[in-house]
Amino acid sequence: MQQIKLFSFPAIALFTVEVPQQLYIVEYGNNVTMECRFPVNGSLNLGLLTVVWEQKRQNYIGRAALLHSELKLGRAILQITSVKITDAGSYLCLIDYQGVDYKYITLEVKAPYKKINTQVMRKPGEDKFVFMCQSEGFPLAEVFWQNEKNFNLSGSVNTTYTMTVDGLYNVTSILTFKPNMSENCSCVFWNKELNGETSAHISTLALMSTPYSGQKSLILFIIPTCVMVAVLPSALIIFQKRKSFKNGQSKKGTFCFR
Ligand SMILES: *[C@@H]1O[C@H](CO)[C@@H](O)[C@H](O)[C@H]1NC(C)=O
Ligand SMILES: *[C@@H]1O[C@H](CO)[C@@H](O)[C@H](O)[C@H]1NC(C)=O
Ligand SMILES: *[C@@H]1O[C@H](CO)[C@@H](O)[C@H](O)[C@H]1NC(C)=O
Ligand SMILES: *[C@@H]1O[C@H](CO)[C@@H](O)[C@H](O)[C@H]1NC(C)=O
Ligand SMILES: *[C@@H]1O[C@H](CO)[C@@H](O)[C@H](O)[C@H]1NC(C)=O
Ligand SMILES: *[C@@H]1O[C@H](CO)[C@@H](O)[C@H](O)[C@H]1NC(C)=O
Repeated sequence: MQQIKLFSFPAIALFTVEVPQQLYIVEYGNNVTMECRFPVNGSLNLGLLTVVWEQKRQNYIGRAALLHSELKLGRAILQITSVKITDAGSYLCLIDYQGVDYKYITLEVKAPYKKINTQVMRKPGEDKFVFMCQSEGFPLAEVFWQNEKNFNLSGSVNTTYTMTVDGLYNVTSILTFKPNMSENCSCVFWNKELNGETSAHISTLALMSTPYSGQKSLILFIIPTCVMVAVLPSALIIFQKRKSFKNGQSKKGTFCFR
């Protein structure tokens, strides 16, 4: 008769890491704290604890810290200060404390186009205006030009962008048009993901009253009124955009209505 040996395993308390929040969305330049929780029975034995926070690119080194005071509460909190675009991604949080487990946390970074620099000048040698709006943000924004009154496209628009060393889009939009009368124009920086838009208002009033001066261009800088709009603006503008998308002009992404 063969003896059958029965092994009895000790009851293993499963060691699990939990994340109270799986996705963090943070604004460029702000601080973020991401948290993993692990079971601590009584007082924490630091000698037995290993916490690993890892992200592929590891650009956050030097700006990241583990908040040690929280460990005894079973909270492994990674703080990243002055968040950059390159900090975005998937973070592994692994904890070894007489048992090993890990979770992934996603960090998204957004940079609204908050500060819009504007410039108005006269085209040298021509009776045309050049309006310029420039701003930095992430992700890439479209630039719309619009007028308070009616919505006819006028003038030509050229929107270009470069990347800054910090991974932001540096978007410049230039509207060139022949002025009819004094009118105010706005450039609108819009991105669906930023869930809103920012705009700057440009007035030609002062410029219209200055005489046309041929070669001497670069007459005037107008300080912009920058408005951060949390919600999408008036239905009229939305309607206009939709219409424009339908018309297949969205590739250019730029309109001036007057
Ligand atoms: C980010 O954290 C640093 C260091 O703790 C602090 O000095 C700074 O004020 C924080 N910035 C913001 C925007 O909270
Ligand atoms: C917690 O610690 C107590 C005493 O240190 C021990 O008796 C108990 O088995 C531990 N429980 C777990 C789940 O580790
Ligand atoms: C737009 O501007 C860029 C950079 O200033 C220039 O290289 C390009 O030729 C312009 N495009 C048009 C259509 O004017
Ligand atoms: C963004 O581009 C403009 C020119 O279009 C340039 O003057 C400015 O220095 C750039 N800003 C950054 C941060 O690269
Ligand atoms: C200039 O604007 C006025 C009033 O909006 C309009 O009646 C006129 O036709 C415009 N002229 C040109 C050349 O667009
Ligand atoms: C443009 O804006 C200025 C000040 O914001 C205002 O005084 C002026 O009347 C406006 N012009 C038009 C044509 O709406």
